[in-house]
Amino acid sequence: MTPTTPVASITGTGLWNAPEVITNEELVASFNEYARLQNEANAAAIARGEIAALTPSSVEFIEKASGIRRRYVIDRKGVLDPQRMRPYFAPRPNEEISLQAEICLSASRDALAMAGRDAADIDLLILACANMQRPYPAMAIEVQQALGTSGYAYDMNVACSSATFGIEQAANAIRAGTARAVLVVSPEITSAHLDWRDRDSHFIFGDVCTAVVVEDAARATAPGRFDILGTRLATRFSNNIRNNAGFLSRCEDIDRDAHDQLFVQEGRKVFKEVCPMVVEHIGGHLAQLGLTPQGVARYWLHQANLNMNQFIARKLLGSDPSLERAPVILDEYANTASAGSIIAFHRHRDGLADGDIGVICSFGAGYSVGCVVVRRVN
Ligand SMILES: CC(C)(COP(=O)(O)OP(=O)(O)OC[C@H]1O[C@@H](n2cnc3c(N)ncnc32)[C@H](O)[C@@H]1OP(=O)(O)O)[C@@H](O)C(=O)NCCC(=O)NCCS
Repeated sequence: MTPTTPVASITGTGLWNAPEVITNEELVASFNEYARLQNEANAAAIARGEIAALTPSSVEFIEKASGIRRRYVIDRKGVLDPQRMRPYFAPRPNEEISLQAEICLSASRDALAMAGRDAADIDLLILACANMQRPYPAMAIEVQQALGTSGYAYDMNVACSSATFGIEQAANAIRAGTARAVLVVSPEITSAHLDWRDRDSHFIFGDVCTAVVVEDAARATAPGRFDILGTRLATRFSNNIRNNAGFLSRCEDIDRDAHDQLFVQEGRKVFKEVCPMVVEHIGGHLAQLGLTPQGVARYWLHQANLNMNQFIARKLLGSDPSLERAPVILDEYANTASAGSIIAFHRHRDGLADGDIGVICSFGAGYSVGCVVVRRVN
C-alpha cells in the first residue's frame, strides 16, 4: 500500500506487561537443575551411549548470542520448577473471560485513551498474534464483547509479523470504507509455546500484550499521532521456525508436550536468511516511497535478537545505530513474537519532531516481513 496522501493514522498505543519476571540467572539455574535431574534419571542409558547427556545452559551465552537479560511471564513458578518446565494456568469455565482475552483489556483501553476514543468508536477489532488460545469462537470477538467495541472482529496469525500485517489490514479496511477506526491487539502468551526444556531456545521468549488504534487520517485528532505513509508485506516459506501443534495432532497420536508441538527453530539459519531479506525489504519500501534509510529518524525493529537488529540497521545506515535511533527492548522483554516492534514503538515514540519519519518492521516465522512507514504529526 503506497498512498499519496495518508489514508490512516496510528493514534494510540497501549502495553500490558505480564506480572512476573524471570532473570537469565534464575532461568539458567532452573534449566541446569532440570538437566541434572534428567541425567541422573537416565544415567544408565547415558552410560550405554543410548542417549546423550543434557549439557548446561549459560547466562554468558544467552546475553552474548541474543542480548536478552530477562523476560516478563504470566507464571514463573511453573516455568522455573525443574519437575514441570512450563507455566501453570488454571483452567477457566466458559462463563469467565479467557486468559488471552483478559490480557488484551488494559492495553486496549490505554491505546483508546491515547487516541481519545471510546471503545464504541472502534468498528473493527483485529486480534493479531502468533498463538490463539482456541480456534473458535474467535478470540477477537470475545475481546470485542469485553471492551464494547462496535462492528466486527476477527483473528489473524502471521506469527512474529502478525501485528504489522494487522496494521495493514486496518489501513486497508479504512481505505475500503468498511471501518473508520480499528483496534489491532496482540496478546502474546509465548511462555505456553516455548519448550523451556530446550537449551537452544529456553531463553528466547516472554509474555506481553500490545494494542494499536488505527484511524481514518481525515478524522484523527490525537496529538503525537503517526500518519501511515505506506505498508509493505512479504512472505517466503521456510521450515526453519516451526510449530507442528494443531487440530490434527490428536489424530496423529502425538504427545501434546513433544518438542515439535512447541516452538522449534534453526536459529543460525534464520539469522542468515532473514537479515538480508529484511534489509532489502525496508530499503525497497523506503525507495518506493521516495525516502532513504538515512532519512529515517527511528527504526522500531522486531525484537528477537540484538545482533540481528544491529546487523540490519548497520546495513541500512552504513554505521552502528544509536539506541535512540534503533531502540532496544528485548533486553527487558526477550522476544515477544509480534508484539516486539510495537513495544519498541510504544516505549520510544516520543522525542520526534513534526514530520519525522519512522519505520516499524517485524520479521519471523513464515518467513514473514512486515514494514509500516510512518510520519510523526505533533
Ligand atoms: C537463537 C540464537 C540466539 C542462537 O545463537 P547462535 O549464535 O546462532 O548459537 P548457535 O545455535 O549457533 O549455538 C552456538 C553454540 O552455543 C551452544 N549453545 C546453544 N544454546 C546454549 C545455551 N543455552 N547455553 C550455552 N550454550 C549454548 C550451542 O550448542 C553451540 O555450541 P557448539 O558451537 O559447541 O556447537 C540466534 O541464532 C538467533 O537469535 N537467531 C535468530 C532467531 C530469530 O530471530 N528467530 C525468530 C523467532 S520469532
